[in-house]
Amino acid sequence: MAIRTIREYGDEVLEKPCKVVKLMTPGLSVLIDDMFETMYEANGVGLAAPQVGVLKRVCVIDVTGEDPYVFINPEILETDGEQEGYEGCLSLPGKSGIVKRPNHVKVRALDRRMQPFELEADELLARAICHETDHLDGKMYVELVEGELVNNEDLEKEQEGTEES
Ligand code: NI
Repeated sequence: MAIRTIREYGDEVLEKPCKVVKLMTPGLSVLIDDMFETMYEANGVGLAAPQVGVLKRVCVIDVTGEDPYVFINPEILETDGEQEGYEGCLSLPGKSGIVKRPNHVKVRALDRRMQPFELEADELLARAICHETDHLDGKMYVELVEGELVNNEDLEKEQEGTEES
């Protein structure tokens, strides 16, 4: 496994739609391992393939540090409710902004064995799924921020801190 370079906001690879994955390959399996390692090393809760320069519909999420999920070709089937809170991104380190997201999502994807699964998620996991699937469409959360981006250092007194994905 290897740590990959995380592309930063402004890099055009983050603005492009990603391609559907049709086949698991040894290279894609290594990519998934590297994405987990890169995400954990950066203390993030999610990472999408374009953030490491690969335009494929693959993302990894782990909001607790003990619940790793791989989503290949994820599709959000249903959303419900609303949550509003600070959101960050490993491609824009040290910054956060307030984003409204559904509080509940139902997602369908393939796992790393290319087997389909469905997952219902709430709160932070729902937020991370929305954030990462947006990356696969070339969208960054900054488009959705209400008000200004803030420095995480300025937020620390207000709350526990924010998660980056
Ligand atoms: Ni992100």
